[in-house]
Amino acid sequence: MRLKDKVAIITGAANGIGLSIAEAFAKEGAVVVLADIDEKKVLEEAKQISISGAIALGIKCDVGHTEAVKNLIQTVMGQFGKIDILVNNAAVAIGGNIVEMPESDWDTLMNINLKSVYRTIKESLPHMLQQKSGSVINISSTQAFRSWYNWTAYAGAKGAMLAMTNQLAGQFGASNVRFNSISPGAINTPMNAKRAEIEGTAFLEKSAAQHAMNRLGTPTEVAMTAVFLASDEAGFITGEDIKVDGGLCTLPRYTE
Ligand SMILES: NC(=O)c1ccc[n+]([C@@H]2O[C@H](COP(=O)([O-])OP(=O)(O)OC[C@H]3O[C@@H](n4cnc5c(N)ncnc54)[C@H](O)[C@@H]3O)[C@@H](O)[C@H]2O)c1
Repeated sequence: MRLKDKVAIITGAANGIGLSIAEAFAKEGAVVVLADIDEKKVLEEAKQISISGAIALGIKCDVGHTEAVKNLIQTVMGQFGKIDILVNNAAVAIGGNIVEMPESDWDTLMNINLKSVYRTIKESLPHMLQQKSGSVINISSTQAFRSWYNWTAYAGAKGAMLAMTNQLAGQFGASNVRFNSISPGAINTPMNAKRAEIEGTAFLEKSAAQHAMNRLGTPTEVAMTAVFLASDEAGFITGEDIKVDGGLCTLPRYTE
């Protein structure tokens, strides 16, 4: 019960990594608030977690809209009176060659993947500062460190998340609010299943081969790292990025 009675908000929690984080937090005793644009799925998943005995609330929230994020934070404060953990996980995968990518795609991606982080932190940080405690975990990506063809916008947003994490960790450490990030490699989630549908299943094999461990990661492997960062065990860790990437960033490996 490493997160006993802590109140955690996880964005993009209806599927994939966000859902795994919500499930893992609940198992560790946290009160979990699952926020997602997909209302039906998020309510279903929150109900499933509640059946296990945990307190779980599903809320429809489009992190691309300021009013929706304000409503999310106000609802959580009204219902539970505090926010101990915020996981910024919601994102969309929009690729595109920078020369051809329509500006509207660039703006959509930046709004959902990056400006959303500004919104959730802006609304929840004042409460954490008043409590004199908090843990913010930003889900970045190894794409912030490595070049893939045609993922400039996505990588740009993820790199900016790392810079924000570092900046905020330095500024608010003395108030006992910690900011860390996780940079996953390719993880077996609906996001990658969707890409495999579009790009063909060979994409998944090629993806696996990019990792020293020659496989995709599981959402649970990311979630357990989030549990650690959210817990008091990581009480002196701030401004840190943990790669959960099966050694992707150690490559290229030596080949005969
Ligand atoms: N899957 C990977 O290989 C991988 C690798 C590195 C980083 N990541 C990052 O991990 C996080 C989770 O990825 P995933 O693979 O689980 O994705 P996913 O597509 O499987 O799930 C994302 C969730 O976010 C929700 N969402 C999308 N737009 C939203 C919005 N505007 N408001 C609220 N919710 C919204 C979706 O409904 C969905 O439930 C993302 O930040 C992603 O960039 C994923």
